[in-house]
Amino acid sequence: MRNLISHGLRKLVRNEDRYPTGDRKAKVISIATVKGGVGKTTTSVNLACGLARFEEAKVLLVDLDSQGHCSTSLRDSLPTIGGQASLSQVLLSEEPQELLDVCVTSGVRRLDITPNDPDLGEAEGRISQKIGKEFLLRDALKFTRTHYDYIILDCPPNKGNLTLNALLASDSVLIPTDLSPLSVQGADELLGTVMTVNERLNHNVDILGVVLTRVDARNSTMNQTMLDQIKDAWGELVLDTQIGINTQLAKAQLAGKPIFDFAEKSRGAQHYRALTEEVVRRLD
Ligand SMILES: Nc1ncnc2c1ncn2[C@@H]1O[C@H](COP(=O)(O)OP(=O)(O)OP(=O)(O)O)[C@@H](O)[C@H]1O
Ligand SMILES: [Mg+2]
Repeated sequence: MRNLISHGLRKLVRNEDRYPTGDRKAKVISIATVKGGVGKTTTSVNLACGLARFEEAKVLLVDLDSQGHCSTSLRDSLPTIGGQASLSQVLLSEEPQELLDVCVTSGVRRLDITPNDPDLGEAEGRISQKIGKEFLLRDALKFTRTHYDYIILDCPPNKGNLTLNALLASDSVLIPTDLSPLSVQGADELLGTVMTVNERLNHNVDILGVVLTRVDARNSTMNQTMLDQIKDAWGELVLDTQIGINTQLAKAQLAGKPIFDFAEKSRGAQHYRALTEEVVRRLD
């Protein structure tokens, strides 16, 4: 019995020693919705880069999607070797481990990132068997969050265990949606999930807002109809900034660069700069 107890204490002391506390207190923001392809990754990458560039903040971008699109989107700025562990290893580890073991420094100033982890798909199922399965990511950020000003979590397009972990590790959630009815329905579903998480798991993730993405200025009549309905339903939750369709954003992703480096003067860059500023204002 005594052995068991001292083992527990040893584990605790060792973890405190391994991860010294930094002097920052990150705001953790999930970028999430149920619908795929609406611009979650584009928003995560360019918001993270915008915060690092314009706010001079120390930022960590966490890729929670096994597709690894954050790494693809920034591959021009990533080192070829990864961190000491993968994100799925940290989440599934029996010993408490920190995301600091996963992070790599990117070529974008002040931005760190968790590299592509194809095992996250399998981890999604295995997380169900863990005790405290919703809190694995929150626990793995305990020390990590003291080393950053912002941590951006790019979620997969579903309400699975990884998204739940993201919500429970977050202070706020930003929900991107385009103006198609299915995407709007997906955003509404995610809003419902956030409310359930807050009520049932005694958490308090703030809804930072809904950001309209891929807005096509040529469909102004159709857009206005959807926009009126959306504003009616979500009111102040809808951000003022809209991200228009801009091919430079897709091209920047193909080139593996943030939009601010790829096409600094493009509409895409202007819109993501405006989004960065509005997010900071709303958080304050
Ligand atoms: N504002 C935009 N203008 C033009 N193309 C865009 C815009 N936003 C995103 N795209 C393109 O749309 C596609 C989907 O975007 P993205 O990968 O960001 O979506 P996602 O929600 O993360 O998708 P998934 O659900 O698969 O993770 C990408 O090819 C991206 O380059
Ligand atoms: Mg994505």
